[in-house]
Amino acid sequence: MAADRRPDDMARINTPELAQAFINEQIEAINAQVGPEGKVLLALSGGVDSSVCAALLIKAIGDRLVCVHVNHGLLRKGEPEQVIRVFKEELKANLIYVDAVDRFLDKLAGVTDPEQKRHIIGEEFIDVFAEEARKLEGIAFLGQGTIWPDILESEAGIKAHHNAGGLPADIADRFELVEPVKILFKDEVRMVGRELGLPDSMVNRQPFPGPGLGVRCPGAITRDRLEAVRESDAILREEFAKWGLEGKVWQYFTVVPDFKSTGITDGKRTFQWPCIIRAINTTDVVEVTVEHLPAELIDLLVNRITSEVPGINRVLVDYTPKPPATVEYE
Ligand code: XMP
Repeated sequence: MAADRRPDDMARINTPELAQAFINEQIEAINAQVGPEGKVLLALSGGVDSSVCAALLIKAIGDRLVCVHVNHGLLRKGEPEQVIRVFKEELKANLIYVDAVDRFLDKLAGVTDPEQKRHIIGEEFIDVFAEEARKLEGIAFLGQGTIWPDILESEAGIKAHHNAGGLPADIADRFELVEPVKILFKDEVRMVGRELGLPDSMVNRQPFPGPGLGVRCPGAITRDRLEAVRESDAILREEFAKWGLEGKVWQYFTVVPDFKSTGITDGKRTFQWPCIIRAINTTDVVEVTVEHLPAELIDLLVNRITSEVPGINRVLVDYTPKPPATVEYE
């Protein structure tokens, strides 16, 4: 089995050669753990950690890894398609795609309390994943993209890392965990992902909350407002990439709050939502500074978002650091 803890004297994996050596070691460790016939189940969100974990496992055991990608309807534009393209088509992964969009959005309909929204999304995710797991026979291992900061933070009582504890006992008891990136820091996970051939757009992904766009659609989520969040986020990401800000700014996204204001389009009165732009930098997410955007970029975003995103007639830029604001709105 792989090392349980990061050795104190472990060198930082910061070159392709070191990443390659790590990959080779892990392939051996995974094979030693699961044996020649063992199968592994993995919830693949498409985030950096689960994607790198999946790519490593595919390299080690091929189609004995079964990935489950749950589309809960709160992912960014193009994400489910990218997961299918990269893993199913390019890496030939054994991937089960679950379209659970209606299921999640129906459960969330009318729910305004942020914690209740998070709770529903978390519970529903476990239910969907457990349902898929019950359908599969003969899988003894559960892959997880746990990384070293997750372990440090759960030990320090900062956050409970997303381990198998969330799964119902009949499911959790069936599995032994396989965590091939658990001794790595985030930059090392990205380096290993690059060496494994994952696309930059996946490896360099900014942090994205588990409850996804749900926390950027404050109050009760409606499909039309959620679409406005998704489309405006896609425009923001496209322009940040064009302006060379991708990979330089820690996190950037849009929020569409649940109130409307008057506007005017083609000489006619409109009554629509505003779209808020937020771009932040941090090293620890405890304290956060804002990225001051070039005025021409703001003008361009105002123009594109109000003309291309249905339901938006106004764009606001949030320049509030943390504290006093948090990064997300819920
Ligand atoms: P806040 O809003 O607490 O966010 O200042 C700090 C960082 O955490 C991310 N975030 C979450 N990540 N599940 C997650 O996996 C969540 O429920 C969640 N809420 C916030 C947020 O995007 C930011 O990077």
